[in-house]
Amino acid sequence: MQLKSWLLILLLLQQVASVELDIDDEDSICEAAKQVVNGELNYYEGTKKGGTIGMFSNPYYWWHAGEAFGGLVDYYTYCDSDNKTLEKLIYDGMYNQAGDHFDYIPSNQSMTEGNDDQGVWGMAVLEAVEKNFTDPKDHSWLEMTQAIYNTMNARWDTKHCNGGIRWQIFTWNSGYNYKNSIANGCLFNIAARLARYTDNKTYAKMAEKIWNWMEDVGFATYVKDELVVYDGAKISNNCSDVTKSRWSYTYGIFLSGCAYMYNYTNDHTWLDRVNEIIKSSDYFFKDGYMYEHTCGGGSKCNNDQRSFRSLFARCLGLTSMLAPSTKDTIDQWLQKSAQGAAKSCSGGSDGVTCGTDWSKGSWDNNFGLGEQMSALEAMMSLLVKPPLTADTGGTSKSNVNAGTDTEDKKNKNELKVSSKDKAGAGVLTAIVLLSVSGGAIWMLF
Ligand SMILES: *[C@@H]1O[C@H](CO)[C@@H](O)[C@H](O)[C@H]1NC(C)=O
Ligand SMILES: *[C@@H]1O[C@H](CO)[C@@H](O)[C@H](O)[C@H]1NC(C)=O
Ligand SMILES: *[C@@H]1O[C@H](CO)[C@@H](O)[C@H](O)[C@H]1NC(C)=O
Ligand SMILES: *[C@@H]1O[C@H](CO)[C@@H](O)[C@H](O)[C@H]1NC(C)=O
Ligand SMILES: *[C@@H]1O[C@H](CO)[C@@H](O)[C@H](O)[C@H]1NC(C)=O
Ligand SMILES: *[C@@H]1O[C@H](CO)[C@@H](O)[C@H](O)[C@H]1NC(C)=O
Repeated sequence: MQLKSWLLILLLLQQVASVELDIDDEDSICEAAKQVVNGELNYYEGTKKGGTIGMFSNPYYWWHAGEAFGGLVDYYTYCDSDNKTLEKLIYDGMYNQAGDHFDYIPSNQSMTEGNDDQGVWGMAVLEAVEKNFTDPKDHSWLEMTQAIYNTMNARWDTKHCNGGIRWQIFTWNSGYNYKNSIANGCLFNIAARLARYTDNKTYAKMAEKIWNWMEDVGFATYVKDELVVYDGAKISNNCSDVTKSRWSYTYGIFLSGCAYMYNYTNDHTWLDRVNEIIKSSDYFFKDGYMYEHTCGGGSKCNNDQRSFRSLFARCLGLTSMLAPSTKDTIDQWLQKSAQGAAKSCSGGSDGVTCGTDWSKGSWDNNFGLGEQMSALEAMMSLLVKPPLTADTGGTSKSNVNAGTDTEDKKNKNELKVSSKDKAGAGVLTAIVLLSVSGGAIWMLF
């Protein structure tokens, strides 16, 4: 046969391939998810020669890995829990990034890690806690989450804007003078989950305090009848100049945090908030399909934004379990979105690469770790089960004092930065910028 005919056949084969999904059939969901996971793991460095365990390839950051592992724990639990290779991959990846003090502040991420990044890892580790994922012997997943909680909590700052934590941990990272919903939302979510899992009211009080501050500062506020959650504000002018963009993952994190609080306290105030956020989450759906409204979906969204729906989907699923009255509404969203996501997973040379626009019915030429993670979590949310607690079969061991005996408990904003460190930071920034643009150039090809 001539080369041309071969190429034609190849082209046809490629168009036939796509991820098939029957939302009523668990096996079909897991089969579809397996292909999405395979695509996701193409970006994983930990199994490649010379790669760092727990990290994904350039241009993906440390925090993306945190997002990814949460979804992988779900996939392992719901679809592939006999797979020892996968179990080890997840275990090693999460454990290796815990850092010297087992609080997810690895010293070599100080150029990139903000409170939201530590928090996203915290929510991944909590997936492991609530799904009884194989615990490390020396430091349980629960203990590590408590260390994350304690170190983040220690950064609560009443000097500016009457409370809240900043976006950044380290003074030299840009955004240090910004307080935002996502960082505080992560702490809120973690606090609510620790309260429910360990049945300790101290965590619930903190969640309450964060929510009240969010309203006080106007990051969570009513516009007409709608409860909206805005991005954040600089601490200058007492956080009064609020940046009004809205992001799906922020909504998801507050939504499910409220659902955990409702489930734990049985207090209808929390259920009201759940219902309010569900109503305003409408903003993140177009024709019934999830989409990242603020950046317009698709290629206009950057690498971070293209991954937000992964957390949004995961949080919607959890909410439907914890506040069962929301299940019908959420199921409709998740089912349509997962079906759309599966249809978008028909691109690339493997024919199963996922895209961004889930309403298109086919691949939209976008690809990346964010696309894979978002499609995966939309599918996994269809299989969601109630998260465990210490009373319902969770066995991860508690250590309420974890993280309180290290330097990390101090506000990094109060640590003195020597000029030597600053110079080092500048060089590192240059390297990061270079490698990011290197990555962007690669994306063009
Ligand atoms: C176990 O998981 C790994 C990683 O996802 C995958 O490559 C492998 O095919 C899986 N094994 C089986 C038997 O499904
Ligand atoms: C950074 O730190 C982590 C965890 O402490 C370590 O496993 C990793 O090898 C280090 N290097 C890089 C490039 O991430
Ligand atoms: C600063 O902002 C906080 C949060 O919105 C508010 O509680 C406080 O009253 C404000 N302080 C001043 C001096 O405006
Ligand atoms: C809390 O979650 C459990 C598990 O999904 C559910 O059975 C229970 O009804 C929920 N509690 C409330 C108050 O909704
Ligand atoms: C949780 O894991 C422990 C240790 O592997 C096990 O003994 C226990 O049965 C598990 N619980 C559930 C609910 O699966
Ligand atoms: C509850 O959590 C707080 C905060 O970490 C801790 O100080 C307290 O000892 C815990 N209470 C119990 C009963 O474990």
